[in-house]
Amino acid sequence: MTRLSVIGTGYLGVTHAACMASLGHQVIALDVDPEKIASLNDGVVPFHEPELQELLSSALASGNLEFTTDWAVVAAQADVHFLCVGTPKSKDSDAADMSQVNGAIASLAPHLTKPALIAGKSTVPVGTAARLAEYLQANSPAGAEIHLAWNPEFLREGFAVQDTLHPDRIVIGITNPEDEKALREVYDASIQEGTPFITTDYATAELVKVAANSFLATKISFINAFADLCDAAGADITQLADAIGHDTRIGRRFLNAGVGFGGGCLPKDIKALHARATELGLGEQFEFLANVGRVNQMRRELVVERAKSFTGGDLTGVRIAVLGAAFKPDSDDIRDSPALSIAQALVDAGADVVVHDPIALNVVRRVHPHLNCVDSLTDAVSGATLLIHLTEWNEYRELDPAALNSVVAGRTIIDGRNMLDRDKWINAGWAINYLGKPGS
Ligand code: UGA
Repeated sequence: MTRLSVIGTGYLGVTHAACMASLGHQVIALDVDPEKIASLNDGVVPFHEPELQELLSSALASGNLEFTTDWAVVAAQADVHFLCVGTPKSKDSDAADMSQVNGAIASLAPHLTKPALIAGKSTVPVGTAARLAEYLQANSPAGAEIHLAWNPEFLREGFAVQDTLHPDRIVIGITNPEDEKALREVYDASIQEGTPFITTDYATAELVKVAANSFLATKISFINAFADLCDAAGADITQLADAIGHDTRIGRRFLNAGVGFGGGCLPKDIKALHARATELGLGEQFEFLANVGRVNQMRRELVVERAKSFTGGDLTGVRIAVLGAAFKPDSDDIRDSPALSIAQALVDAGADVVVHDPIALNVVRRVHPHLNCVDSLTDAVSGATLLIHLTEWNEYRELDPAALNSVVAGRTIIDGRNMLDRDKWINAGWAINYLGKPGS
């Protein structure tokens, strides 16, 4: 058992705190937002994430987990501090906004009066860990006894608990060999399962994270560019992805063509990496990431153009049901969601848009109060001339199109995720349109 703290209670922090507590560690988690802390102490997870609510409730009940806003308490109670605050895109540039990281370290440092290990998990520009290590030693009462490790996080939303408890790999960047021992103790359960444990330097650990996300984003834009080529040439992107995916050097995962990637990570991470590489004089080598972003953006425009092509070029007053709002299924995260960006573009083009999502509508209502959100799927599609499928929830995959025939005004669907069963929709009398493969 290690005494841990988790700083920052967003997606990463709450999941890490609850998972570490469930493994038997004593965890105190801190956030600067008192409302958030009060609700977490009441056992309420502020976002949708499978398994997390149960895990949080039992961790609180076991006494292994508590939440606070008090830096002094955190510094006194924990020996290893996990830094889990956000690094969103800066308002005025593509670089990461480091204010939360810098603020957290500046708040914690004066309270560090005994030896401690700070383990950074936030996604940061390369060079950050070395800078923070120096800052901590210069500004903490315990000075040289404050060590820093960089321990990037690879969890996916929707699988956050499983990814934290059973990660593909654990990476730590350290400068003091004894810090490896402390982190091996924290992650002992995963290590016993055979999870690869990679010990390296700060810069490599920082870069592993952004390299992984950039690779995934590149894979998605690669297949999406080919989806356009398939459309132009009359080929089938799903069969193409299956065929190249059999090559184990390529792999099938993350080759699903469609409306592209969104969320709080991939879009901002490729921008931040390009910005950082440019600072280091490597802008040209990383220019491809700008293109990855452009291809991704074009997916959204493509769907709007498709919608227009089905309605004679003019969307004014056309009722369109948008199926999905979250950036991916099993999440209520709508940050940079392709679905919502398309919904907004359709509204801007004059369409009468109805947005449906099984989980995310409360968040949509809060952030985009002007969008017309409808909770019942049947009500959402009622009277619609066009359906556009944008987030691949099971509920949509399992839809019975024949059952919709009596409520819709038109039987056309654009499948922006290339996931719906062609025969099922055609047999029910629908026209189905995909991004990169023949429809009807
Ligand atoms: C991503 C990474 O996958 C995680 O490993 C990483 O830890 C996380 O970012 C992070 O940096 O915190 P996440 O943002 O949860 O995780 O979402 P992904 O599962 O990567 O999906 C990203 C987007 O790509 C989604 O919009 C998804 O719909 C889209 N996608 C994914 C595709 O369009 N095609 C695919 O084949 C796969």
